[in-house]
Amino acid sequence: MYARVVAAFAAALLGATALLLPTSDARARVVGEPPSVVAHRGASALAPENTLAAVDAAAGLGVDWVENDVQRTKDGALVVIHDDSLRRTTDVEEVFPGRSPWKVKDFTAAEIARLDAGSWFAPRFAGVRVPTLDEYMRRVEDNGQNLLLEIKNPELYPGIEQQILKLLGNEGRLDRPYPDGRLIVQSFSADSLRLVHDLAPGVGTAFLGTPPVADLPEYAAFTDGINPSYASISTDYVSAAHALTGPHGRPLAVLAWTVDDAATALRVTGYGVDGVISNKPDVVRAALRER
Ligand code: G3P
Ligand code: CA
Repeated sequence: MYARVVAAFAAALLGATALLLPTSDARARVVGEPPSVVAHRGASALAPENTLAAVDAAAGLGVDWVENDVQRTKDGALVVIHDDSLRRTTDVEEVFPGRSPWKVKDFTAAEIARLDAGSWFAPRFAGVRVPTLDEYMRRVEDNGQNLLLEIKNPELYPGIEQQILKLLGNEGRLDRPYPDGRLIVQSFSADSLRLVHDLAPGVGTAFLGTPPVADLPEYAAFTDGINPSYASISTDYVSAAHALTGPHGRPLAVLAWTVDDAATALRVTGYGVDGVISNKPDVVRAALRER
């Protein structure tokens, strides 16, 4: 049954997804010239995380890769938000006081659209909203940015992988295969990533975490990268990942998170990572340019 569903969905995507694999055996540098910087939840030290304001803040800095977190509402809309609850990053407690614990999955898209997702960060962001993935993709596209899209808590949202891929296909984001597609899908869930790879083999994927070196070959069957916490890696670990070839014939790329200061950025890039994911991409980029 699983194979039939996957095959049917992959066939449906074929019109939008080029499946030709890259032929070059050059070292994959999936986010531009190494070491690259990805704005974590947008430039989230400068604007409320996972909002269009954070995407624009990254664009204003000239940062062309942004990371986000995607979840699903009660009525099936894809929205960009990190926590499984609306409580920390919106005024949901005031607007819907009787709805504890304010889970994303328990609110409709119309209800979430009423929430202020900016005031908690700073008064000048009052009125900023939780974006739908559709709105978010349009802004990223308008800004000419690339996207590191995290499927957050996929176990809460059965079928979210198909739904995200369908939207990405509609937006033309599946037209070019990895590493040229300006898109990488990442998750802490290996099952979710494996499904994404099966459904849309051209899409770039990255596993969030630090699997043991002995297990990395299993991951290389379905993921193009390993995105670990910076504190969990070493030069040897990065070398072990680079020694393996992912599903698109490129060495596994390594993007380390969340690196927000110059000293850590210099240390981690010294391990040989392909990029860093940062709330302060301006700080990190400046440090790396000054080397
Ligand atoms: O991109 C890496 C990072 O986003 C993973 O952790 O909790 O910030 O989504 P988290
Ligand atoms: Ca994330």
